[in-house]
Amino acid sequence: MQTNHDSIRAINWRDDRLFLLDQRILPQSYTEIELNTATEVAHAITDMVVRGAPAIGITAAYGVVLAARQRYAEDAGNWKALIKTDMQQLAASRPTAVNLFWALDQMQALIDGLEGDPFEPLKAAADRIMQEDIDANHTMGELGAKLIEAGSGAVLTHCNAGALATGGYGTALGVIRSAFAGQRIDHVFADETRPWLQGARLTAWEMVQDNIPVTLLAEGAAASLMKQGKISWIIVGSDRIAANGDVANKIGTYSLAVLAKYHGVKFMVVAPTTTVDMAIAHGDDIPIEQRDPNEVLGCGGNRIAAEGASAWNPAFDVTPAELVYAIVTEKGVVKHPSKEAMLAMMNA
Ligand code: MRU
Repeated sequence: MQTNHDSIRAINWRDDRLFLLDQRILPQSYTEIELNTATEVAHAITDMVVRGAPAIGITAAYGVVLAARQRYAEDAGNWKALIKTDMQQLAASRPTAVNLFWALDQMQALIDGLEGDPFEPLKAAADRIMQEDIDANHTMGELGAKLIEAGSGAVLTHCNAGALATGGYGTALGVIRSAFAGQRIDHVFADETRPWLQGARLTAWEMVQDNIPVTLLAEGAAASLMKQGKISWIIVGSDRIAANGDVANKIGTYSLAVLAKYHGVKFMVVAPTTTVDMAIAHGDDIPIEQRDPNEVLGCGGNRIAAEGASAWNPAFDVTPAELVYAIVTEKGVVKHPSKEAMLAMMNA
């Protein structure tokens, strides 16, 4: 299916129903799955049908809409009590992306003040969360692109922080799209991103749709790429940013940041303020999801590791603020992030 960033939508509400693009099988197959309950939505998040911090939050918001419709139909007088288990199930779907908890908090606050049929107001709130995310991505795209000098050549990204990981346009890929359109960069290197291959499958697909030249590499090749002077920036997204500017993102991001420092490559993190968790003082306190070892022991569902071997499979790591050149949010750019600078940006 030929598309472009304006039409890539991982989350689609149509005809009063929720559809998710199944990101586990992209780009081989462009298939949507219909979801009808909060349980189905929670499983879809855990199982990576939908992934990426902002997309997880938006999907959970629509999960609340589905749950409210079901619970109100079951017992209109008691739906607010019944929906609590749905909220818990959604909250337990993945632990690291704070956008999930932010979105559920937004929906819960609305529920607390509702009277009568909750469907329309909750659906409007979920639509708003999605639209505000898309708007934030366009703002960040411009802010981040302005940091990149014209003629900067190639940049490197990790995982997928694109339209598929958000409401649309993307965070890191939003900056890359804007910088490419403004002729500040001309090429993207994408880490393949084991074990789920978000770089190879999703980022490469998005770039090809937009005619942005993209070259894949195994994560282990990134050091040589930097040593050869082939990239000017590393641009990534985030799942949670602590109050001091420490950044949780896809496993492997921390190694890239260390390498960037050594090679004098600038490191940019692009994330909406819904990804900032001012209640967490330090990156060490960010909960890091541990996933099934089989994801590392095999590839594409086939076992590749020696029988008897075990695997360690953290889905995310934390990059210390001191390795980050700039955090770009829709509220502004924080250069050399610190607790004070993060607070000033959040209060702006
Ligand atoms: O495990 P995933 O695919 O959900 O991990 C996604 C990432 O690490 C992204 O970089 C992050 O969520 C930012 S998405 C705009």
